[in-house]
Amino acid sequence: MTSTNNLSIGFKVSQHKKNQRLQVITLSQKTVKTFSEKISQYNVQSIEYKPFLRFYIANSLNQATKNTLGNYLLKTIKDRSTGAVILECESMDDPSINGIDFIDFNILLSTAISHLIGVPNLDSMSGKFYARFSVTNEDNSDSYLRQAHRRMELHNDGTYVKELTDWVIMQKILEVNVEGGDSLLLHVDDWQDLDKFYQHPLAKENLQWGSPASKNVGYKTYHPIFLDEQVEGQPRMSFIDQFVEPLNMDQGLYLYEMGESLESEANTFNVKLLEGSILIINNYIWLHGRDKFIAHQNLHRELLRQRGVFVENTGYENNKNV
Ligand SMILES: [Fe+2]
Repeated sequence: MTSTNNLSIGFKVSQHKKNQRLQVITLSQKTVKTFSEKISQYNVQSIEYKPFLRFYIANSLNQATKNTLGNYLLKTIKDRSTGAVILECESMDDPSINGIDFIDFNILLSTAISHLIGVPNLDSMSGKFYARFSVTNEDNSDSYLRQAHRRMELHNDGTYVKELTDWVIMQKILEVNVEGGDSLLLHVDDWQDLDKFYQHPLAKENLQWGSPASKNVGYKTYHPIFLDEQVEGQPRMSFIDQFVEPLNMDQGLYLYEMGESLESEANTFNVKLLEGSILIINNYIWLHGRDKFIAHQNLHRELLRQRGVFVENTGYENNKNV
């Protein structure tokens, strides 16, 4: 790694106090201002309609940091020892974001981030490269994604789609009457039972994965819990309790024990995201979930999600079943 990859101009880096793997980036007010001036002529619709504009926006943000932010993000997300970033802005008041609507600015900002670390996959729930969704007190959906009063168990994203999901971006864009509901995080290497499950005969066996109707994915996929090792020969995971479909008792009990182990893991930690902050994780080395909310009649939270791949995994080769 060259030393230029460690440069940070126009943003500060610190380690999260609960877990040193998690890096906290704060964009300076000047960086936010320079970026917003450069992109103020574009709105959310224009970046939805024109994919190349998303790269222009990403480049504008990178230029505001003398081209250091993109390198830093990629290096950190790819590095197994870290692999996760919280990105915040020093200021998001009206003058800092150049009068751009707050929610629009947030969408433009996370789009810039996603295109500095690769390309987002099409989100089949929204039909766009990103998905926005609300969590409220009442919900009738068919998965735990939007259900406020229960903990969403630790999992990896993209288990039931054919495409690779190298990274996940989760952004909080609005929060009213919210108590609880923190993000839960666990690095695969911090899971104390990892070896027990990784050395198990079923660790590399293909399992069946499906999803409920709301996901708009009309097929099954087949892959093991532990994906091929990277160069270093360390395990990466693709697991979610709701969408893996065991086909025999051995698989069922292996998965049951895995779920129990993950949910009782003491190294899992929770992170509170402020409005406007963005969590970026390497999806195959970090498990994520969400703690339950404290009931409140007018609880309302708006989230934005992007999932995608590093540039080397774009195009027709972006298929983990190939
Ligand atoms: Fe998720």
